[in-house]
Amino acid sequence: MSDKVVAILGATGVVGAQMLQCLEERDFPVKELLPLASARSAGKTIQFRGEAISVREATPEAFEGVDIVLGAAGDAQARELLPQAAARGAVCVDNSHAFRLEKDVPLVIPEINAQDIANHPRNIIANPNCATIIGLVPVWPLHKAAGLRRMIVSTYQAASGAGLAGLNELERESRVLAEGKEIGSTDPFAYQLAYNLIPQIGGFGEESYTSEELKMQNEGRKIMHLPDMRVSCTCVRVPVMRSHSESITVEFEQPLSPDEAREILSEAPGVRVVDDPANLGYPMPLDTSDQDLIYVGRIRRDLSAPEGVSALTFWCCGDQIRKGAATNAVQIAEYLV
Ligand SMILES: NC(=O)c1ccc[n+]([C@@H]2O[C@H](COP(=O)([O-])OP(=O)(O)OC[C@H]3O[C@@H](n4cnc5c(N)ncnc54)[C@H](OP(=O)(O)O)[C@@H]3O)[C@@H](O)[C@H]2O)c1
Repeated sequence: MSDKVVAILGATGVVGAQMLQCLEERDFPVKELLPLASARSAGKTIQFRGEAISVREATPEAFEGVDIVLGAAGDAQARELLPQAAARGAVCVDNSHAFRLEKDVPLVIPEINAQDIANHPRNIIANPNCATIIGLVPVWPLHKAAGLRRMIVSTYQAASGAGLAGLNELERESRVLAEGKEIGSTDPFAYQLAYNLIPQIGGFGEESYTSEELKMQNEGRKIMHLPDMRVSCTCVRVPVMRSHSESITVEFEQPLSPDEAREILSEAPGVRVVDDPANLGYPMPLDTSDQDLIYVGRIRRDLSAPEGVSALTFWCCGDQIRKGAATNAVQIAEYLV
C-alpha cells in the first residue's frame, strides 16, 4: 500500500475539519496533505498530525500531483473544480450534491454498496446526503432480511448540517436569547432556530417536497439498487448542535418481528442497538455525537399497518458530520489505497 497525496477541498469547513480528524484517527496512508479552501482562507493554518499546514486557494492547478481529493465544499465549487482534479488523475470522493445522481458516478455507503466503488469512470465517487446515510445504514440489513416495500421517515436535523454558519448561528441565538436581547438576522436559517423547529430543509420542488426530502428517495434508490423504492420523508431542522435523528416506519414484503429486527441490527455493521425502554434506554443526539455508529432504538410494531402487512417503526441517531459525511468519505477512500 503506497502513501497518497490527499487534498481536502473545503478544509476550513465543518466537514473538512472532521475529515482531517478522521484521516488521523484511521491512520490513513497520507504522504502529503493539501488543505484547500476559498481565497479568503489562503494562508490560514490547520493542524494535521501535529503539524501546522497552510491552507491554499483551491485552483485547478492546486490539484496537480494529487492522488485523492476529499470534497467538502458546496455544489458550485465541486462542479467547477472536481472535474479539473479528476482530469489531472486524482480520484475525488465528494460530499456535495453535485454528482450524486449522475449515472457514471457511484454513490456509496460502504456498509451497503461498497462493490460500486470500483467502477468510477469519471474519477468521481459521491458521498450520499447525511440524513440518507443515517437512515439507510440500519434500514439495509432489515431490507436484506425481509424485503423493503415502503418507508415513511421524519428527520430531526442538527444545526451543523447547515455548516459552520449553522453551528455558529444556533450558538449565537442561544446566547442572545439568554441575555434577553433581540435576535436580529437568523441567516443561514429562514427563521429563529433556538427554541423552535423549522419544517423546511432545501427548496420546495416536486409535489411540495423539499430537495432534502427527495434525497432519501432518489439517493436511496441508487445506493440500494431499488429503482422503485417508495419513500415519503419530512425533514425538520431542530435546535441541536450535532447528530441527526430520524423516526422511520418501514413496511416489508416478509414478516419481521421487533425481536428479529433487534437481533439483525445488533449484528449489522455500523449500527449499535440501544433499545431498553424499561431503563429509559434509547438513542439521543447528545450520546451519538463525536462517534461513528448509528444508534437504533424504540423498535416496535407499526400498529397502523393493515392486517397481514408487516411493518416496524424505529428511531435512530447518528453524527451527521462523521458517519453522515467525513467518516463515510474516508471509508470510501480506504478502498482506493
Ligand atoms: N455539515 C454537514 O453536516 C454535512 C453533511 C453531509 C454533507 N455535507 C456537505 O458537505 C459540504 C461541506 O459542508 P460544510 O457543512 O462543511 O460547509 P461549511 O462549514 O460551510 O464549509 C464549506 C467549505 O467550503 C469552502 N469554500 C467555500 N467557497 C469556496 C470556493 N469558492 N472555493 C473553494 N472552497 C470554498 C469553505 O472555505 P472558506 O472557509 O474559505 O469559505 C469551507 O472550507 C457541502 O456540500 C455540504 O452539503 C455537509
